Amino acid sequence: MSIDFPSHFFFTHEDSRFRVRPIKPSDKDLLQRGFGELSERSRYLRLFQTNNQLSDAALKYFTEIDGVQHVAWGILDESGTESIPVGVGRFVKYKEEQDVAEVAITVIDSHQGKGLGRLLFVTLNFIAAKIGLKKLRYYVLRENHFAINSLKKFNILNQTEEGTVTILDIAVIPNHMAIKDDVKMQRFIAAMKVVEEKMRL
Ligand SMILES: CC(C)(COP(=O)(O)OP(=O)(O)OC[C@H]1O[C@@H](n2cnc3c(N)ncnc32)[C@H](O)[C@@H]1OP(=O)(O)O)[C@@H](O)C(=O)NCCC(=O)NCCS
Repeated sequence: MSIDFPSHFFFTHEDSRFRVRPIKPSDKDLLQRGFGELSERSRYLRLFQTNNQLSDAALKYFTEIDGVQHVAWGILDESGTESIPVGVGRFVKYKEEQDVAEVAITVIDSHQGKGLGRLLFVTLNFIAAKIGLKKLRYYVLRENHFAINSLKKFNILNQTEEGTVTILDIAVIPNHMAIKDDVKMQRFIAAMKVVEEKMRL
């Protein structure tokens, strides 16, 4: 199913202003630039390897998105005079399980801890819910305790271990009202409200 989501929305955090929008084929240079801002550790945690640059094939795969099987949104920091690529989140549906998609989220090191990973998570979840997905699957290195602990707040439908990787299936959340309003979920619920308001179709 294809739905026309908004072409972008703005998110503000303290003094910063971020544009959140789908990735397009012309974003190859921006993506390469953002990749260059990742520490070796972040590259390893995201791609399980430490290449300095994305290959042409990877850039093509990450930017030439059909918006149906493969959905990808990025965040640009537009607080200053130039647009700085700071985060990207994507999911790719499984051909054999059309209500399940694999998700990956990355935020550059200088912008981590500001809620942008959460915003990408919520944006992807919102789109997944609208197009009828039931599960989002995360492949996370077992040593990435911070990412695993963050994900374990949600409804885990399945967890498997494959070598150094933990695979978590999280139930797609229909909207913020479906989340129990306890302290550890408050920032998440607030982010969901922002995305629901901005993405309202
Ligand atoms: C994982 C990642 C996407 C998180 O993005 P982020 O913008 O830094 O995270 P956020 O600020 O949105 O915080 C998300 C949660 O993690 C917590 N958190 C953030 N930084 C943290 C840190 N250094 N240590 C522990 N917890 C932390 C936040 O408190 C928040 O928890 P909450 O939802 O309960 O409030 C980002 O750190 C990253 O790209 N890391 C490298 C690649 C990677 O590990 N990807 C995940 C596997 S695909």
